[in-house]
Amino acid sequence: MMSSNSSSSSFASDVAPIAREAGALLMEFFDQNIKIEYKGDANLVTEADRQSETLIRARILARWPGHEILGEEQGLRGSGGDYRWYVDPLDGTTNFAHGFPVFCVSIGLEHKGQLVMGVVYDPTRDELFTAERGGGAFLNDQRMHVSKTPRLAESLVATGFPSHKRHKNPNIFFYHQITMRSHGVRRAGSAALDLCSVASGRFDAFWEFNLNPWDTAAGVLLVEEAGGRVTDFRGGPFLLDSRQTLATNGLVHDEIMHEFEDIFSGRGLEPLPAISE
Ligand code: IPD
Ligand code: CA
Ligand code: CA
Repeated sequence: MMSSNSSSSSFASDVAPIAREAGALLMEFFDQNIKIEYKGDANLVTEADRQSETLIRARILARWPGHEILGEEQGLRGSGGDYRWYVDPLDGTTNFAHGFPVFCVSIGLEHKGQLVMGVVYDPTRDELFTAERGGGAFLNDQRMHVSKTPRLAESLVATGFPSHKRHKNPNIFFYHQITMRSHGVRRAGSAALDLCSVASGRFDAFWEFNLNPWDTAAGVLLVEEAGGRVTDFRGGPFLLDSRQTLATNGLVHDEIMHEFEDIFSGRGLEPLPAISE
């Protein structure tokens, strides 16, 4: 695997089978009638989320026993050290629970505070997205690149809304404005796959408020390694605990930030709710 950037002991080539195994587990649940549970509000969790994370943790720890793992369902475990994994065992739970086939497994790896590897697997399409820092980004072993769309007016853009406390999120204003100025804004329900779609050139840009590190760790590196740009909404460096994620092909980045500046300042819009979770 990992044809052109291969090194036989690369993290990505070791993680890919783990992501595929977790994806196969998700598909087994998806093909049955799964039980929906709630973490509070409309925040769904399923047995599939839990079992997928347990599987991924076990595989990572078997291979790299000293590493720390932060997973959405079980939190941070491990004893520190230079490596930390970010695991979203099922990104797109709401879709999954409703039988809408847009979801994935997302596994990112940080070394001394720097993202070094990202793997995202979409089991519904059998698409594996992989990247290692400095090695480029790949879709099913084919090198992938961000789009060359030069302007927002010609862009297909994506965003997402939080699964709960949506009334406190200002994103509907952003959705409205960017919809008016682009070819459209998709809201497919999996932030990790949205980032992969920027990396593969299917989307020209993606933004979202209040994502978590397990949503973004893998996808952000994929976008960067595919030649794209990821920052906060004002062009500041993207950090894993950033509450703003803007990922683009690089060419439309400044234009979108300019639009966001207008929206933040309320030009032509109703007053914005405070940005909080
Ligand atoms: C959610 C998805 C969704 C995004 C939400 C996330 P989950 O993750 O990525 O696209 O809009 O903010 O919480 O809960 O399905 O893992
Ligand atoms: Ca998620
Ligand atoms: Ca999840």
